[in-house]
Amino acid sequence: MAKKINPVAGVSLMAYIDKNSILAEQCRIIRSNIQFSSIDQPIQSVVITSAAAGEGKSTVAANLAVVFADSGKKTLLVDCDLRRPTVALTFKQWNHDGLTNLIGKGTEKIEDFVHESGIDNLSILTSGPKPPNPSEMLGSQRMTDLMNEFKKEFDFIIYDLPPVSIITDAQIIAAKADATVLVARQNQTQKQDFLQSVKLLKMAKANVIGVVYNNVKKNTDNYYYYG
Ligand SMILES: Nc1ncnc2c1ncn2[C@@H]1O[C@H](COP(=O)(O)OP(=O)(O)OP(=O)(O)O)[C@@H](O)[C@H]1O
Ligand SMILES: [Mg+2]
Repeated sequence: MAKKINPVAGVSLMAYIDKNSILAEQCRIIRSNIQFSSIDQPIQSVVITSAAAGEGKSTVAANLAVVFADSGKKTLLVDCDLRRPTVALTFKQWNHDGLTNLIGKGTEKIEDFVHESGIDNLSILTSGPKPPNPSEMLGSQRMTDLMNEFKKEFDFIIYDLPPVSIITDAQIIAAKADATVLVARQNQTQKQDFLQSVKLLKMAKANVIGVVYNNVKKNTDNYYYYG
């Protein structure tokens, strides 16, 4: 039976709309944990991923970006989900250019592709056009160079990735970022898948610093498809 395919939509910026929401509070806790865990070795970039699809990666990534920006940090949210991007939709922006253009061309300037989000201190880099070879692009030296450039321009960078169990993209970027946070969703994340994801990330030498338990009811069946 063919899987249902939900159209990709943006995620809710609950941490912006309601600073007292549970998600806002959760994101502030993650922010504090990141700041505290980085006393000896500063954490300036974090990957948000999860074992499987639809567990809340993009929701956590975007809302965490909002609370980092809210604390006065110059923050960048990068959509590294080149297959099911959401950042452009979340912030109601076009996605005709973005990360894939920056990686592909090799000579483009970051400031021409990073856009204001409409929220103070928060900039976004949308995924850009879908490339034929997403994993290769994310694994390129150019991507490593860009990640280093972002660190010079921003106080904190958040990378929204696809699920670990489906493709290698999250492992690739997690290995290059300072830290990785996994999202697990109530009544949805399978223990085996979760443990396997931790194993895969550790094999990639990712610095897994924590897990966010996304305590929200599953609202769709067969949410998922990665092409
Ligand atoms: N804490 C939450 N509160 C309300 N809705 C949520 C929450 N977390 C996720 N959702 C909803 O669940 C759906 C999937 O969330 P999201 O897009 O963040 O997951 P994802 O892991 O990024 O998915 P994908 O694997 O496709 O990238 C979306 O419709 C989102 O709005
Ligand atoms: Mg997502």
